[in-house]
Amino acid sequence: MSLTALQVMQDAPVIPVIVLHDVAHAVPLAQALIAGGIRTLEITMRTPVALDCMRAICAEVPQAIVGAGTVCSTRDLDACLAAGARFAVSPGYTTQLGVDCRKRDVPLLPGVATASEIMLAQNDGYTALKFFPALQAGGVGMLKALYGPFAHIQFCPTGGLTAQNAAEFLVLPNVVCVGGSWLVPADALLSADYARIETLARQAVQLAR
Ligand code: 3PG
Repeated sequence: MSLTALQVMQDAPVIPVIVLHDVAHAVPLAQALIAGGIRTLEITMRTPVALDCMRAICAEVPQAIVGAGTVCSTRDLDACLAAGARFAVSPGYTTQLGVDCRKRDVPLLPGVATASEIMLAQNDGYTALKFFPALQAGGVGMLKALYGPFAHIQFCPTGGLTAQNAAEFLVLPNVVCVGGSWLVPADALLSADYARIETLARQAVQLAR
């Protein structure tokens, strides 16, 4: 049975936003995150090796729930599904992407930053949304304001989140989880410091919701 976007959001307090430049990092990274308690992983489609990384993790780390980030088109969507992705995250929302995901029975976590974008997404049946870029688009204050007219919308704020400020978002009634790249620092990958990534994941799992 396929996942729902809400189930993707509920799996852990933080969805790691992962940018990989070397396929050799993919499997040990996924293993480190899982050892720290995070199995739902967003691999962004921003690098030439992103699809190979998804394939490697799906083949070698079956406990991982691999999703694709930065999915902006039908072409991106079909490529990541062929590589094994089980959910998609997009920086914004288009009806085309919403329809394509529904046709393929793929959960989509689309990005929104304004009331009009929320209305468009909910009109197409999407109520579990990424709030992006969270800090730049108004942060906690904006999410509190959006709760008035959109109390039923469930958000994953992403963009500018850190271990220090994530808790301020996670206490909000319309926030289910947050997304962020801080769990996977580029320098930790380069130095193969997977123990540090495991520790960051362990700390993220302990954030209260
Ligand atoms: C992104 O798509 O890059 C995410 O919003 C991650 O943002 P961050 O690097 O500020 O966590």
